[in-house]
Amino acid sequence: MLRYFTAGESHGEALVAFLSGIPAGLEIDQAFLDRELWRRQQGYGRGGRMKIETDSAHIFSGVRHGKTIGSPISIEIANKDWNNWQEALPIGAGDEAKHKRVASPRPGHADLAGALKYNFPEARYVLERASARESAARVAIGAVAKLFLRELGIEVLSHVITVGTVSVGNVIGWDRIRALHQKDEVLLNCADAETELRMKEEVDKVLRTGDSLGGVFEVVGHNVPPGLGTYAQWDERLDALLAAAVMSLQAVKAVEIGSGVAAAFAAGSTVHDEIEYAAQSGFTAFSRAHNNAGGIEGGISNGEEIRVRGYLKPISTLRRPLQSVDFSTREPVKAAYERSDVCVVPAAGVAAEAMVALTLARCALEKFGGDSMTETIRNFQGYCQQLKNY
Ligand SMILES: Cc1cc2nc3c(=O)[nH]c(=O)nc-3n(C[C@H](O)[C@H](O)[C@H](O)COP(=O)(O)O)c2cc1C
Repeated sequence: MLRYFTAGESHGEALVAFLSGIPAGLEIDQAFLDRELWRRQQGYGRGGRMKIETDSAHIFSGVRHGKTIGSPISIEIANKDWNNWQEALPIGAGDEAKHKRVASPRPGHADLAGALKYNFPEARYVLERASARESAARVAIGAVAKLFLRELGIEVLSHVITVGTVSVGNVIGWDRIRALHQKDEVLLNCADAETELRMKEEVDKVLRTGDSLGGVFEVVGHNVPPGLGTYAQWDERLDALLAAAVMSLQAVKAVEIGSGVAAAFAAGSTVHDEIEYAAQSGFTAFSRAHNNAGGIEGGISNGEEIRVRGYLKPISTLRRPLQSVDFSTREPVKAAYERSDVCVVPAAGVAAEAMVALTLARCALEKFGGDSMTETIRNFQGYCQQLKNY
């Protein structure tokens, strides 16, 4: 069973992630982990913090001589800004005058609900944990999940569909998505260059006005075999697991599988993916004319590409702040402002890749899992043969 947790505050000493259940014998590519962390830090519209920090995954346990050993993996990502925050967020009592209070809750953040829930007089501790900085820890363990999936031939990547009011029109094929990820400069991670420039103009507009933007990303799981997840129980359905995994990311307010939203407004004859049978091309000789189902029917992967979209609300911290109330005086004030991103759709897509990879890895391990990679791959290959013989 694949299990994982994260810990750490946004301006604390470090983020930490734990990943338990990866079989022994998986080769760990440190450069790949660090590139994934780098990808989460990219995108036009990010704030100053991304410029001062370059994340790196420091593996503490579960990996020896370059390979997993079946023990829990723990990873630390240092917060390079900790030097500037030691007095504001000490473990001990410290000097109260040096604490950085968040005096007024910011609409759209956990600030008010968290302060009420945990009985804090202000929102500092709330935002420290509710912040999407936490998603870096998920990207680190998601990278391990991707390395595991790669051994089964499965890849997971994302691209951006919408920023503000600008959207890319057509379905973007896998080859274009893969090409996008070879680039060493990330603008808005949109596969269509002309649309990407229009997305950039949207970001420029909010940079000028002190506003912020949301958007839509799509995560694609490529070469996923039919048979992951099941309809047998509600909490084992692959669509439900993916929806929860992606929805758990900060600022994601809706998740769509395939063309689920448009499907609700269309006739069945135009939505459901008709089935054909020809020469073997993928796992079986069954194929589909299109993939409106996003690769999942009845809670089970059906052998087509998994396509999951996440809808992000606009960033909640505004340079031109919204109305709020001072925690102490209860007087109306403008919401607190802290250095902030204005658009994070590409980065959220990278974090969602991690969540999709962890979910697919969990389902793959439930189906094929062994204690070692040798055992797992043998089980996987046996299943692939069964599909071929079907
Ligand atoms: C990668 C990423 C980076 C983010 N950076 C910021 C940021 O710099 N400032 C901000 O106000 N919100 C940022 N957000 C969004 C907030 O984390 C989000 O609005 C907040 O958690 C409240 O949303 P929730 O109700 O979904 O948790 C970011 C989100 C993601 C996914």
